[in-house]
Amino acid sequence: MEAFEEAFARAAGTRHCVAVASGTDALWLALLAAGVGPGDEVVTVSHTCVPTAAAILQCGATPVLADVDPVTMTIDPASAARAITRRTKALLPVHLYGLCADLSALKDLARAKGIAVIEDCAQAAGAFFNGTPAGSHGLAGTFSFYPTKNLGALGDGGAITTDDSSFAQRVRRLRFYGFEKAQVSRETGHNSRLDEVQAAFLSVGLKLLPSWVQSRRDIAALYREGFGDLLGCPDDAPRRRHGYHLFVARTPRRDDLRRRLEAKGIETAVHYPKPVHRQRGYASVCRIGPTGLAVTERLSREILSLPLYPELRPAEVKRVVDAVRACA
Ligand SMILES: Cc1ncc(COP(=O)(O)O)c(C=O)c1O
Repeated sequence: MEAFEEAFARAAGTRHCVAVASGTDALWLALLAAGVGPGDEVVTVSHTCVPTAAAILQCGATPVLADVDPVTMTIDPASAARAITRRTKALLPVHLYGLCADLSALKDLARAKGIAVIEDCAQAAGAFFNGTPAGSHGLAGTFSFYPTKNLGALGDGGAITTDDSSFAQRVRRLRFYGFEKAQVSRETGHNSRLDEVQAAFLSVGLKLLPSWVQSRRDIAALYREGFGDLLGCPDDAPRRRHGYHLFVARTPRRDDLRRRLEAKGIETAVHYPKPVHRQRGYASVCRIGPTGLAVTERLSREILSLPLYPELRPAEVKRVVDAVRACA
């Protein structure tokens, strides 16, 4: 596991990597190590996968939900700024679909307010901001190695990256019963190890990650070329290199297009049809920030994930392009 941690830290451009059992645990343990606890608030987005909010709640803190930018679909720094209160301990941007949030603006904001930035990079292995990998910009980055992710294990896995040595040490303690040496516990901890089989498997995959991400980018370029005039399509944003975990297009006729594509044998998905604040288990325990969530609401009705994985063959890409052109 140590060999994988070292290799992953090198790839992420950080001094440390602590491997854990899942991306959710990575978020939870990073937040705990940053001192997030009961009574605190963490500013994040509703336009994300539920685990982002679940990890904040697991610390006993409250997720405060900011709106997203309509183009990048990541946290809107102006909305995040309005959501910060005296209780805010951290900003938790999600690099959704593999595109980094505006880390320059967020880091400036966090510095001005004296709070931490923790990057949710679950979907962003292989993505870059300002030429530097996702996960190396804030106090910490958290990754998921769930099998469908850009870098997937055979089962669950996750990691935390950081440059801060004492933060890394704290995460290591929290990961394993608070032990600072064998059987000597300094604080209350948990059990969230990445097992050796997953670490060995991930070490092989890590070497292939750049070529897998390049394939994703090539397919995304073909999609944009093929139907960028018909649907809103994702692209690199200023200073950002998209990692294309997902290719999420936009159209107001989303449900109709989805049905037509299905009839042609093209499977699509929606990530995510219900933002966190509309989920029954989470609506009452999150707080919506003062700017509201109008963009988030609109996106949830318009987004459509099209097939994208590195092994997709040119003929299959063409089939998707032809089908979208015929149906959109
Ligand atoms: C944005 C985001 N955050 C966190 C997670 C949690 O990762 P995991 O499923 O490995 O616990 C996921 C994965 O589904 C995710 O997409």
